[in-house]
Parts: sequence; C-alpha cells; structure tokens
Amino acid sequence: MKITILGAAGGIGQALSLLLKNQLSSGSELSLYDISSSIIGIAADLNHIPTNVKVFGFFGKNIKHALKESNIVIISAGVSRKPGMKRADLFYINSNIISKLIENIINICPNTLICIITNPINTTVVIAAEILKKAGVYDKKKLLGITTLDIIRSNTFVSELKNKNAKEIEVLVIGGHSETTILPLLSHLEKIHLTDEEIIILTKRIQNAGTEIVKAKSGNGSATLSMGYAAARLCLSVIRGMQGEKNIIECVYTEGDRKYARFFAQPVMFGKNGIEKYLQIGNLSSFEKKILKNMLKTLKSDIKLGEEFIKNYLI
Ligand code: 2OP
Repeated sequence: MKITILGAAGGIGQALSLLLKNQLSSGSELSLYDISSSIIGIAADLNHIPTNVKVFGFFGKNIKHALKESNIVIISAGVSRKPGMKRADLFYINSNIISKLIENIINICPNTLICIITNPINTTVVIAAEILKKAGVYDKKKLLGITTLDIIRSNTFVSELKNKNAKEIEVLVIGGHSETTILPLLSHLEKIHLTDEEIIILTKRIQNAGTEIVKAKSGNGSATLSMGYAAARLCLSVIRGMQGEKNIIECVYTEGDRKYARFFAQPVMFGKNGIEKYLQIGNLSSFEKKILKNMLKTLKSDIKLGEEFIKNYLI
C-alpha cells in the first residue's frame, strides 16, 4: 500500500506523517511531497523511527515520483487561517493549489483514492471533482473531504462535559466543514443524556472549534496536531476497507445521494474500491432539523463557488 501526502512539510502533513509512519502496516510506503526541500530532511527524520514503513521525500518538480502508483493521496497543501478569517476566505489561494495538484494526480495516478484536508473543504472537494470529471476520470467513490476532526472534537467535548471515556463516544457529524454547516447529531448518542441547553452549548463549541484554535495560535495557523490525528484515523479506516475488513464506517464530505446537497458530509461504509455504501443519517431532533435547514443555503453556495470556478478552467 502506498500513501502519498501532498503538502507534507506543513503542520498537518508532519503530524499525519508521524502517525502513519507508526501505524501503517508493515511493508507500506509513505511518500511525502512538498514544494519545500525541507521534506527531504523530514523523510530522513521519520526514517530513523524503527517501523517497517519506508518514507520517501520529494519536492518541487518531483511530484511525479511522489504520486507514482499511489493507492491513496491525502492533500493537506495550502494556506491556513489567520485570526478573523473564515475558511471561505482561503478560497482564492487554495483553489489554485488544489487544481494544480489534482492535475498532477490525473496525469500520474488517476485511479487513486483522494482525501482532501485543504480548506475550504466545502468548495475544494467540488473543484477536485469537477477537474477529475473534465478529464474523464471522476469516480465519486474515490474522492472525499476529511471531516473527521469534527467527529473527534465532538467526542472529546461530550466526554469532558459528561466525565466519560472519549474512546467510547462516537458522534456522527453531518453537513459540511465550516461554522454553521457542521452539524453534530448529539441526539443520536444512546447512553448519554444531554439536556437541551447542553446540546446548544456543545453544538456551538463544535462548530467554532477550528476558530478556537486559530485564535489561540494567534496568527500562527490553525489546527494541525488534532487535524493530523483525524486524518490518520480516516486514512487507516480507508485502508481497512480496501483490505476487505467489513463495517468500516466514517463520516466524510462527498458526492453522495444528493438528498440535501450535491456534496454533503454523511456516514459512509468503506470497501475495496473506496466508498462502498452511503448510509442514512437517521432521525433528527427538531433542533438538528432546524440547523440542517438553515445550513443548506451556505453549503449550496459553497458548492456552487467550486462549480463556477471550474467552468472556465482549462486542463
Ligand atoms: C479546523 O477545523 C483546520 O479546518 C480545520 O480546525
């Protein structure tokens, strides 16, 4: 299994690489790419860790070597938020970065499974889909935006509030990955009772958790370590599905059944070729129904932005 990380010298990329170096199964290959030549040193640094996962570093024009025969490509390249910015403010710069990387994927490994971390996810995944479509290689089961960070944050915040073990909590988070489009389905928790007030407070905190980190890092970026952890969890789930393990379920932002919007974060089951099944979100409380209804305008306009961006794009 070959996993490639594009933008691997950044904060998320390094955290993710470290976790994958430790957690990928023996014999796997970790290919790290960045525009910065420091990636050579990062790969060498990781290779001093005694696991049977070989790490290779590539920079600049060598992206072709990085991508060759990749089974999974994770894109974390791009610029992160500064205090006062929304994820959507990163659109212009990051959409160009995503487009160029997707073009390289099309040329080198068009059948790979692509996981996108680069914000604004609500839009960058759409851009990737449209470029892949223009090139005639789009497979919606092999393209997803990683929203796992919203899930692990939800699990952590609920566990803190209720004094429970976070490992035993799994909150489904649907919608998108920006402020009001993040909808944790707290009413689905079976063994934990949350009051209406607790649900309101938790939902707000989960929706604003990324901004909480941007503020706390005061101008030095957004979440990197927790995002790296979330991406590693998602990547390992994708691999388990590809290797034939059953019932591997995660929430991801993907082009699903279009019930609510063309792209939507929902639970999916992974299989040998990526997403095998789109799962239903189940019944929502009236509070969750209201959030869902209110988010759709924002989510649909984020999706449209991606579709419009690509209209005049020549590949
Ligand atoms: C976050 O939610 C970086 O978007 C990421 O913190």
